[in-house]
Amino acid sequence: MYSRIAGTGRCLPDNIVTNADLEKRVDTTDEWIRTRTGIRRRHIVDGETTGDLCEGAARAAMEAAGIGPEDVGLIVVGTTTPDQVFPNMGCLLQARLDIHGCPAFSIEAACTGFIYALSMADQFVRDGKAKYALVVGGETLSNIVDWSDRGTCVLFGDGAGAVVLEASEEAGILSTHLHADGAYKDLLYFPSGVGSGFDRLREGKDFVQMRGNEVFKVAVNTLGGIVEETLEANKMTKSDLDWLIPHQANIRIINAIARKLNMPMERVILTIEDHGNTSTASVPMALDVAVRDGKIQRGDVMLLEAFGGGFTWGSALVRY
Ligand code: UT7
Repeated sequence: MYSRIAGTGRCLPDNIVTNADLEKRVDTTDEWIRTRTGIRRRHIVDGETTGDLCEGAARAAMEAAGIGPEDVGLIVVGTTTPDQVFPNMGCLLQARLDIHGCPAFSIEAACTGFIYALSMADQFVRDGKAKYALVVGGETLSNIVDWSDRGTCVLFGDGAGAVVLEASEEAGILSTHLHADGAYKDLLYFPSGVGSGFDRLREGKDFVQMRGNEVFKVAVNTLGGIVEETLEANKMTKSDLDWLIPHQANIRIINAIARKLNMPMERVILTIEDHGNTSTASVPMALDVAVRDGKIQRGDVMLLEAFGGGFTWGSALVRY
């Protein structure tokens, strides 16, 4: 028994913030942002919550899969910006969707959250514990970014992406590969939580911290390693891949990985220009864009990869 992707969906807030808008807020230029990151605009919430975005993406994926609430046997949500500390985002989404009784949980693995969630859901389906699993990555990092810090505020956007996995005799998810190394915890983090700095958190004085240049170097090396690990595990070569669906953090990181895979950029799904870095939402949203555009066809082999705070990193090799 395997799992396969039965449907995909995404949800973005309507409000768009362009590089020109940011030029008015911080000491930056459209040219710097475009050439250093590849970003032109990003969607930013205007009152919506992570739960709102996750619900929109989940409903779209369920519709695409042709299933109703009663069919869902598992809900896994990747997010680091949940609506509440608890109940977890999976349960909150479950209530919104009028689904009852199935396991529902969230995974906090920063930008790799969706890949972690996909891997967990794949195990459940393979074990026969769920016929249909709803897997979501949703984030509203704009709420915890310092809008006066040009080093971070130009990078991030909000959104959610989702897939429905279904039990199948044909292999859809061919393999998943998850890694983490907490030794890098000080390069990309949000400082406070319930256990420390709670006052600063309550006062809204804590923001995402990133040593971008150092993160960049580790990301390129680490992602280079995991794409090789993924191909080796499946006894495949670079030429067996039809598509690369990378985490959309920086176009220069994506270019480096595409070069390593000898992959022409036409075979790389890019949303960074319009979405910015949406953390855990970036891979499922890019997948949904490419599926709905008709680029990715049934039978195509795609490599999904992500890297984020923790550090965490992971990949999935998927036959669509
Ligand atoms: O999604 C999770 C993983 N995250 C990532 O993978 C992000 C990885 N890092 C990056 O994408 C890049 O490091 C950044 C886009 C964040 C920064 O690009 P960079 O080429 O590494 O720039 P830098 O941090 O080395 O800064 C270069 C210069 C600095 O000025 P000086 O010191 O050379 O005078 C910065 O102060 O650019 C300056 N700078 C800016 N200038 C205009 C930094 N941010 C801006 C800005 N506008 N927004």
